[in-house]
Amino acid sequence: MAENVKFVEREQLKEKPDPSDLGFGQYFTDYMLSYEYDSEQGWHDLKIVPYGPIEMSPASQGIHYGQSVFEGLKAYKHNGEVVLFRPDQNFKRINDSLERLEMPKIDEDVLLDGLKQLIDKERDWVPEGEGQSLYIRPFVFATEGVLGVRASNTYQLLIILSPSGSYYGGDSLKPTKIYVEDEYVRAVRGGVGYAKVAGNYAASLLAQTNANQLGYDQVLWLDGVERKYVEEVGSMNIFFVENGKLVTPKLNGSILPGITRKSIIALAKELGYEVEERRISIDELVEAHQRGELTEVFGSGTAAVISPVGVLRYNGEDYVINNNETGEITQELYDKYIGIQSGELDDPQGWRVVVPHYE
Ligand code: COI
Repeated sequence: MAENVKFVEREQLKEKPDPSDLGFGQYFTDYMLSYEYDSEQGWHDLKIVPYGPIEMSPASQGIHYGQSVFEGLKAYKHNGEVVLFRPDQNFKRINDSLERLEMPKIDEDVLLDGLKQLIDKERDWVPEGEGQSLYIRPFVFATEGVLGVRASNTYQLLIILSPSGSYYGGDSLKPTKIYVEDEYVRAVRGGVGYAKVAGNYAASLLAQTNANQLGYDQVLWLDGVERKYVEEVGSMNIFFVENGKLVTPKLNGSILPGITRKSIIALAKELGYEVEERRISIDELVEAHQRGELTEVFGSGTAAVISPVGVLRYNGEDYVINNNETGEITQELYDKYIGIQSGELDDPQGWRVVVPHYE
């Protein structure tokens, strides 16, 4: 159901950043979408407002007890039009995350309509360079200023937009070095691992910093009970190529159900690859590597897209994958995926959504 989106104009538009030096998530556009919730009115007051600081109570529940969820998706420019990639999936998932944290769900169509109107206003901010896009960050947090531990009665949703390049900086297909974390865990079944909640990322930072200090880019998490089965990487799901077959951890409640993950599985099957979603132990991977059967490893995520892994560090050993080069299957999937997202290739699945011109 469409809802009237109010527009609050800013006095002066910002200067746009140098497109050759965008980085990831460093610059923000002129406007953001705002939506508010209170228990009497429900979700209300959908508006496009100038991007800028927000005022909130220092006692806000979102700050103290972490009722805070987010999403990430992208817009691309192709032949003068701006397209979104599978936005319905992100809004479905934000509702799953909201439900898990006892936060109020949002009408997905209202949100999509609001997002389209925001992007329409900001279409000049969508970068067109190779590997660039407008990264879209919807997020919802609790705003009620009271310190009792209970679900907040008030919430705010914001969608902010950031013209961005590759997540890891430089060439997005440069292989990364991954540290297999066997001390800390990210999530356990029955917890919040499958939801995109802010606290999951906070809980990952100590291990990530430790890995960074040892010269690794990200951490590969093992399951929280036996520390034996691989789950996901800091900001990506993970895929392995074993004997020409793609294998990826089966969703089990503690793994984020990535939209890129789901899309890659569909694409790989279409391209004729066998894909297995199942439990994968770290020992199986080490043994496959020793036999020369673990030929490629890559991560998948909205921000990271498809990111080859060149080294896996486990138990004091560096396992080099495919000579630390991007593998053939990884490259094929990357080209196909980016081609569909950006509009260069056909979109038989209907994953692209064109942003209308409202005025
Ligand atoms: C994304 O891929 O959009 C993410 O949310 C991962 C990360 C940047 C937190």
